[in-house]
Amino acid sequence: MLVAETVDQVRIAVRSARAAGKSVGFVPTMGALHAGHRSLMDASRRECDFHIVSIFVNPTQFGPHEDLARYPRPRDADLELCRTAGIDLVFYPPVEVMYPPNYRTFVEVAGLSSLLEGAVRPGHFRGVATVVTKLLLIAGADRAYFGQKDYQQQTIIRVMVSELNLPTEIRVCPTLRDPDGLAMSSRNAYLTPEQRQAGLSLSRALHLAQRIVDSGEQSVTTIERAMHEILAGTPGVEPDYAVLRHPDTLEELTEILPAMVALIAARVGTTRLIDNQVLQVEL
Ligand code: PAF
Repeated sequence: MLVAETVDQVRIAVRSARAAGKSVGFVPTMGALHAGHRSLMDASRRECDFHIVSIFVNPTQFGPHEDLARYPRPRDADLELCRTAGIDLVFYPPVEVMYPPNYRTFVEVAGLSSLLEGAVRPGHFRGVATVVTKLLLIAGADRAYFGQKDYQQQTIIRVMVSELNLPTEIRVCPTLRDPDGLAMSSRNAYLTPEQRQAGLSLSRALHLAQRIVDSGEQSVTTIERAMHEILAGTPGVEPDYAVLRHPDTLEELTEILPAMVALIAARVGTTRLIDNQVLQVEL
């Protein structure tokens, strides 16, 4: 497994994989890798021949008061996970390679970037869209793999790739959960055992939403209120939002649709957790 720090090293390795007739799969990450990331690598292994992972804690997607400095960076464990997953190339760039001094080019998907997570974290999706565009252009992969856990992120990336005509197919893989139901996230490492228990209220609220929909409820507000009550009723949890939205556009709903997405965000101590579930409705 090659660990590359420069763009040229990646391009040379990808060129020789392509010359050998191999298709290329790419998993962009910020490291602190867990089984959720591993499932994205496994999807690349199933569908492609040459596998790239990038590990880069992207400063432009963190707000001034967010956890950039304390974000976990377990380099050795991350590289070991990539090695055992059968990854061929890890792109591990220093910040100056991605953002040289006086860097000034940014990508923004208007509208979608200022809703929900974007309203709570201004500038976050501009940073994500910028770094993902750069990484996709550097890797030049046939397919890139993202988790459904970051639902708004994958929505924005799909729109961006389509509108910029980027030649990489975006594949979205299901959220992986711990046995207790907590969606896997690198930020779960910040939670104390008590906070982890409190964090289970997110998946409980999503299950409740599906049950209410299954019971035939026709009011969007009733379902949103029920999810919010689960979060607000759990000590140590401060809800940011608990909403039902259109699964493609993330627009607000006035009526129940055959497919909807329930999206939740809450603060547990100083950690922000997000989760979501696509709800299927028998109309
Ligand atoms: O989901 C993540 O880990 C990051 O937002 C991404 C897509 C790697 C961009 O930094």
